[in-house]
Amino acid sequence: MHRTDHRHDVGGDGDAPGDADRAGLVADSFRRLFGGDPDGVWAAPGRVNLIGEHTDYNDGFALPIALPQSTLLAARGRTDGLLRLHSAQGDGRITDLAVSGLAPGAVAGWAAYPAGVVWALAEAGHPVGGADLHFDSTVPTGAGLSSSAALECAVAVAYDELYGLELSGPELARIAQRAENGFAGVPCGIMDQMASVCCTAEAALHLDARTPEHHQQVPFDLRGQGLRLLVIDTGVSHDLGDGAYAALRAGCERAAALLGLPALRDLRTEELPGAVRALPAELVPLVRHVVTENARVAEAVSRLREGNAAALGPILDEGHASLRDDYRVSCPETDLAAAAAQGAGALGARMTGGGFGGSVIALVRAGTESAVGGAVTAAFEAAGYRAPRILSVTPAAGARRLVPSAATP
Ligand code: GLA
Repeated sequence: MHRTDHRHDVGGDGDAPGDADRAGLVADSFRRLFGGDPDGVWAAPGRVNLIGEHTDYNDGFALPIALPQSTLLAARGRTDGLLRLHSAQGDGRITDLAVSGLAPGAVAGWAAYPAGVVWALAEAGHPVGGADLHFDSTVPTGAGLSSSAALECAVAVAYDELYGLELSGPELARIAQRAENGFAGVPCGIMDQMASVCCTAEAALHLDARTPEHHQQVPFDLRGQGLRLLVIDTGVSHDLGDGAYAALRAGCERAAALLGLPALRDLRTEELPGAVRALPAELVPLVRHVVTENARVAEAVSRLREGNAAALGPILDEGHASLRDDYRVSCPETDLAAAAAQGAGALGARMTGGGFGGSVIALVRAGTESAVGGAVTAAFEAAGYRAPRILSVTPAAGARRLVPSAATP
């Protein structure tokens, strides 16, 4: 039958089991796997970035929110130096590692992220030992939604309590970033980990990557302003380890060095024309993106502080154009998703995260989710692409302990 109506069911977080139910299930699985109760259950979310892409490793600014999708971790400390890892999304096996034997390159696959956090804590001189860890995550993997940061940050917050470290949120985020850079071999900045640890519900995190300690919560009351935020997972898997991300980062660092600056964050908008004249042609678009993107973050924060979230729309559109034309990290699928959403009445849309696939965000008026989602799905169908997965999300809380809850005596 010919389908003319492209209205579309947009998934939300409404039907998903609540944190308490999920925590109970994860604790039950822990008991079956390891025997006995976990010491606690922690959660760490994935993220989407509203604006401020490829700015963090330039010491610049970003504005992420935490997603309702999160990694849950049931954990119990061990005294014998063993680290035992299991994931509900894994192959069913428990990975056994000795904390004293952890070294970069020694652990492959998903286990490198949690093991890397334990390695990074030990390397930083913190007195940590082993643990039994069971993970269960609702953060889609390979979708540019920071499933790896969620894994890392769940371990960071759990270890902080299991071993009485009392580290601050930004300190835990740095440990998680160190795990990813030094152990898993991905040269990422600090945005994803800061978002996963430090975001709060109903707010976006205004991150200054040079001084993560000075981050601020900016109220982002989507629902109160009659808005919705769609996350469109294109299904094109992104991989930051493939060298393209590292090459972009190196290009930015080279440009900063040629300009005699500590980082591109230190280049002011009015200095851009001079920099364009001074730099080799291939570095110019990178520099232009970073400078204009930092300005877009400042603009977005101002609009949110005025209580005008709808005004983010054009800023998102400009951000996408800059990533597509100057930074060149979009791909046909993310370009099509953004364009189809914009064409169907979204206030604004852009790719989010590192790029080369992954997800697009679209800011829409409440009630238009199905129409916008349907238009994107139809455009993908017409182009012969796999159907995208579309979620409506709200800004959620950062990493935290769920069990025992604060209310437990
Ligand atoms: C990835 C990295 C982040 C950041 C973004 C791009 O998500 O992990 O550190 O650089 O790409 O903004």
